[in-house]
Amino acid sequence: MGSKLLAIALSSALLAHYIYTPLPEALGERWKLMLVDACFRSLGHLAELSELIGFKHYMEVMMVLTTVELVGPSSDDDVTVMDTTFNQVPVRVYNPNNLLPKLRRAVIYMHGGGWCLGSAKMKPYDLLSRKSATELNAVIISIEYRLAPEHHFPDQFNDVYTVVKYFLQRDVLARYSVDPARVAVSGDSAGGNLAAAVAQQIQEDREVQVEIKVQALIYPALQTIDFNTPSYQQNENMPILPKTLMVRFWSEYFSCNKSLLNKMMANSHATHESKGLSNFANWSVLLPMEFRKHYSYIPPGGENAELSGRVPGVFDPRAAPLLVGDEKLRALPRTYIVTCEYDVLRDDGVMYATRLKMAGVQVTHEHYEDSFHGAIMFNTWPTDFAIGQKMISHYIEWLRTNL
Ligand SMILES: *[C@@H]1O[C@H](CO)[C@@H](O)[C@H](O)[C@H]1NC(C)=O
Ligand SMILES: *[C@@H]1O[C@H](CO)[C@@H](O)[C@H](O)[C@H]1NC(C)=O
Repeated sequence: MGSKLLAIALSSALLAHYIYTPLPEALGERWKLMLVDACFRSLGHLAELSELIGFKHYMEVMMVLTTVELVGPSSDDDVTVMDTTFNQVPVRVYNPNNLLPKLRRAVIYMHGGGWCLGSAKMKPYDLLSRKSATELNAVIISIEYRLAPEHHFPDQFNDVYTVVKYFLQRDVLARYSVDPARVAVSGDSAGGNLAAAVAQQIQEDREVQVEIKVQALIYPALQTIDFNTPSYQQNENMPILPKTLMVRFWSEYFSCNKSLLNKMMANSHATHESKGLSNFANWSVLLPMEFRKHYSYIPPGGENAELSGRVPGVFDPRAAPLLVGDEKLRALPRTYIVTCEYDVLRDDGVMYATRLKMAGVQVTHEHYEDSFHGAIMFNTWPTDFAIGQKMISHYIEWLRTNL
């Protein structure tokens, strides 16, 4: 009896210890976040184990997070939903039933998940698209691009580029009753990365005659130069997206080779090529004081000229859109950038906002002092967070005014 009680007490203490992670006071619903995070961490450990024993690739196990949430294309009173393909790339289209006005706005959306996970068909993204379609009376094109580790850069980029280019044809826009002057690209996290990259590249494509009106980037990943920015340091162990996972996503985007991952983790993946680009992501210059805080700047170092040859793409602007000169930024459309204080990617977004403003682009930078990476994804019971709902409604409000 006594030993059973002791065992129960001990295992409860262990469980509580596992779940309990001290979280910043500014974050709301901290216990719920701790529980969600404990589930994510447990799955992460399972994925590590699976990889260790050679059962399945780490990301294949993590993909469970996506597959359990998949929903079909079901229409409702407000929106007609359909799965189709644009030039062979799968998309889910949300068409509002309200046919007034005759020409609608459109948002081309790219989901998050570190280029490895996630799906347009996941319930949280499905809900976001429905809400955007209904409240903005807009056609939403949500792209089901290919994922790593099966597909590496530039496949993800090429898929979204193909869709955006296809949709921006006048006859296609007309078929969907979309106003060519009111098309947005948007995405969160890795999807924000893809949206930013497409917005840059498509403006140089002579075959594309319709311009994007706005880009809306929700906590985007934007640079591969420095994985030691103040936000990477401050939020190294934050829920949902610890630094190890973000760096793993980056390395998987390019290659499954663990030597790249190890170099990136040590921030010693620089090459001759990247040295010339590092001023585009120099946080000691590009971050306002309130984000630099007490951190001291160490130039991302390491000498390994081999890397760029072996792993193409790491410093390609289609993968890291912060790494372009001002001349490529100037013509970009009006921009909405969301950053969260408790997010390793905070400084990527802040630096992009700084650089776009310096290049004369109109930028709305919305920084949440009380939020974490991935918050907008948590919009369904029991993992719904008030802050996520608030961010979604601000995002839609911005599009209502600017698109
Ligand atoms: C991984 O990359 C390293 C260094 O770039 C190289 O030496 C090694 O052969 C690669 N391993 C595989 C399995 O391709
Ligand atoms: C970043 O900016 C600082 C301050 O201007 C400078 O000393 C440093 O050399 C720069 N680093 C890189 C890698 O450009």
